[in-house]
Amino acid sequence: MAFTGGDNFNRESELKAFDETKRGVKGLVDSGVTKVPRIFIQPPDDDHLPQSNTPFDLPIINLHGFHSDPVLRNEIVKEIKHASRIWGFFQVINHEIPVSVLREMREGALRFFDLDHETKKEWYVTDSTKKMFYNSNVDLSSTLPVRWRDSFHCRMAPDPPNPHELPPPCREILIKYSKQVIALGCSLFELLSEALGLASSHLKDIGCADGLATICHYYPASPQPELTIGARKHADNDFLTVLLQDHIGGLQFLHQNQWVNVPFVPGALVVNIGDLLQLVSNDEFMSAEHRVVSSGFGPRVSVACFFTTGMVETGKVFEPVKELLSEKNPAKYRATTMKEFVQHSHSKVFDKSSMLHFRI
Ligand code: OGA
Ligand code: NI
Repeated sequence: MAFTGGDNFNRESELKAFDETKRGVKGLVDSGVTKVPRIFIQPPDDDHLPQSNTPFDLPIINLHGFHSDPVLRNEIVKEIKHASRIWGFFQVINHEIPVSVLREMREGALRFFDLDHETKKEWYVTDSTKKMFYNSNVDLSSTLPVRWRDSFHCRMAPDPPNPHELPPPCREILIKYSKQVIALGCSLFELLSEALGLASSHLKDIGCADGLATICHYYPASPQPELTIGARKHADNDFLTVLLQDHIGGLQFLHQNQWVNVPFVPGALVVNIGDLLQLVSNDEFMSAEHRVVSSGFGPRVSVACFFTTGMVETGKVFEPVKELLSEKNPAKYRATTMKEFVQHSHSKVFDKSSMLHFRI
């Protein structure tokens, strides 16, 4: 449903004018806006669910020793299983990506967003066939409030970009960080496979780790944070997401109809289950809806790595893993192709109802 902010303003022309500046939300903030333009204003009752008062204990899973110590590995698999079934979110520490690499990734993303306008606008594209593209919001033509953030997307696997296809201020770190996230993802898919009672390599073998999109988000401080949203409620339409967030915070996920904060833990990475893993695990693991609330402080920078081949929308078929099914536990989803799955989730603005389309 379209939200027009109460009066009849010409949303389309304001969106177009904003897009044509190629300056993103950062450009607005840098120009000193003190009032949020109408295209960003979200309906007052949007996502009006209570904030959790109970201190839910979002698990922080220590991965130390999972390679070498079978007893520790067993414990880690149990923790991952619990978190993936109940929460859809967890954090990992001792994940083998050095803190210096995390820091450099954040700083590299920041260096890109801080480029001067003339240089940065060369990367501004709305057509997503490129391996790297920067814009404010991918879906500016939508009727939904525009997110208070800018982003750049890099398709890092399969078929990684040539360095010159990536922006110089963060070229090297994007390549280095994405490689290390792929290695971490491969380990996580092993542990997740074991948590499902499958052979360690199962999820990798069906292609869960074949593709990676690395997306850097820049959420400027908002002059009226109660009117804006950094990221609307959505579930990720991938297998798994590995997210680097910073000290500003603001990420929340939905658990038992309450918004739960994902606290910033220095050196940790946030991991969340995507819809496609929910589908192949036949609802053993659940994706959780999440959002990013705006803050008067900032900028907040996050780097989200999505394990999916959805950017190339292949005809590869995904379905609930046969080994998990039985008479008592029949398939809850029909088979679908990556292409169909991604196209459908885009048409549904990424909320969890998009899964219903594939339910048997
Ligand atoms: C996303 C996302 C959260 C964040 O990119 O899908 O949920 O903290 N990002 O930026
Ligand atoms: Ni997300």
